[in-house]
Amino acid sequence: MSETGTPVRPLDTRLDQLCTPALVVDVDRLERNIATMAKRYADKGISLRPHVKTSKCWDVARRQLSAGAIGFTCSTPAEVAWLHEKGVTDLLWAHQPVGPRKVEFVVSIAASGTLTVALDSLEAAEPLARAAVATGVTVPFALEVNTGHARAGVEPENAAVRARQIAMLPGLRLRGVLTHEGQLGGYAGDRAALEQAGRSAGGLLVSVATTLRQAGFEIEVVSVGSTPGATSAPFVDGVTEARPGTYVYYDANQVRLGSATVQDCALTVLASVVSRQRPGRAIIDAGIKAMSSDAIATAGSLGIACTPNGTPLADVVFSEGNEEHGYLTGPGADTLRVGDLVRIVPNHACGATNMWSAIYAARGCRVMERWPISARH
Ligand SMILES: Cc1ncc(COP(=O)(O)O)c(C=O)c1O
Repeated sequence: MSETGTPVRPLDTRLDQLCTPALVVDVDRLERNIATMAKRYADKGISLRPHVKTSKCWDVARRQLSAGAIGFTCSTPAEVAWLHEKGVTDLLWAHQPVGPRKVEFVVSIAASGTLTVALDSLEAAEPLARAAVATGVTVPFALEVNTGHARAGVEPENAAVRARQIAMLPGLRLRGVLTHEGQLGGYAGDRAALEQAGRSAGGLLVSVATTLRQAGFEIEVVSVGSTPGATSAPFVDGVTEARPGTYVYYDANQVRLGSATVQDCALTVLASVVSRQRPGRAIIDAGIKAMSSDAIATAGSLGIACTPNGTPLADVVFSEGNEEHGYLTGPGADTLRVGDLVRIVPNHACGATNMWSAIYAARGCRVMERWPISARH
């Protein structure tokens, strides 16, 4: 038995021999997604700095590095610490490092010269600057700018003033600007409008970079980042790097947004039909603890239910989940039998990943390896 209580099978096995539910990556699709995104940017001289939160898996990350990624974007100290230990030398922690433990952590990693952090306020910057000076290090930072997502990030018109206030603090060095164009998640069903909004976000960030340069700052990095925006925002002249994360696996959200097809989705939860007592309803052994409850309200389901070979099941909706039970409903559910295997493409790959300690790596129906998932909360 593994530490998670799942019976571990010797590998080089078949999908139908796994204990369900199981998180599975289709390695052929994974490698295709990595290669396509890498080529897209290499051709245009744009740096690719994928967000590691999607996989949290070294076997995936090392493939991204081999394909040309310059480093990674991280969202938590655990992700930064993990990749730092792996020897990755260009990390962007795209989060505000607030609180004494995070400040201490940033300064300890910054001493090795491999970490850039995001900042948008003096409240976050001042304690960091004090700690940097006390330790004798300089911490590079990217000014986070709001280009429509309205999460963290200064408003573009305030960027020059805020950049000056923060950059004047000893111990900090302005390295560039960054934005996360998460607002593009609201454009399901209108890819043309999504692409336009992506270009606007990229354009806004470039105009902020221009203003900062005119004010005398050296702006080395102009960084945009999202999977729906991966085909638009980075291609605005002046953007230097792209930070998509979800693209390694894609997911049902990205299919709805037109970023991918179901056939591009590399991550699935393999589940078994365990009960078929009522018409139009098949119960599977994957619920919200296997899928996460991410985006259920917007998607109207927990994911796309497919056959074991990845074809969406006709007239079946994964409409509801308890902790370890899932409800496949609709007329198509009557074709399912107890013991049948299904593969579910999750709504949000990053949320699903975070539910698991390991992922099975498969080519077709052959399972070759079991890869650890690291740096979870
Ligand atoms: C700061 C930042 N950069 C990049 C990304 C990657 O975006 P996506 O998950 O759409 O690939 C995210 C996603 O949340 C993010 O928050």
